[in-house]
Amino acid sequence: TYVVTEACVKCKYTDCVDVCPVDCFKEGPNFLVIDPDECIDCTLCVAECPVEAIYAEDDVPAGQEVYIELNAQLSKHPNWKTIVEKKDPLPDHADWSGVKDKLQYLDK
Ligand code: SF4
Ligand code: F3S
Repeated sequence: TYVVTEACVKCKYTDCVDVCPVDCFKEGPNFLVIDPDECIDCTLCVAECPVEAIYAEDDVPAGQEVYIELNAQLSKHPNWKTIVEKKDPLPDHADWSGVKDKLQYLDK
C-alpha cells in the first residue's frame, strides 16, 4: 500500500486524488490519508504530489514510520470522507511546505 507522510500536513494540495483509480483518499482538516484496504499500488499518485508526500509503505522515510499506522487509522475516522476531486490547497500551504516535524500540527 501507499502512504501519505508529513509533507502533506497543513498543505493538502490534493493533486493526488484526481488520479487514484479506486478513490482511496480520505480527507481530514489539514491532511489526507490513503485507505490501505483500498489502495491497489498503482503508483499514479506519487508523481502528482508537489511536495513528494506519498511513499510505498516499505519506502517511508526514517522517522516517519508512524504515518503508516496513521493512514490506516484515520482512513476509518468517521469524519474523514472520501475525496475524489482536486480542490484548492490550504491557504498558507506555501508557508508550510518544507517545514519539518509537522506531526504535532496534524488535526484529526
Ligand atoms: Fe490510489 Fe494508486 Fe495512489 Fe494507491 S497508489 S492511493 S491506488 S493512486
Ligand atoms: Fe497531500 Fe500531496 Fe495529496 S500534499 S493532498 S499528498 S498532493
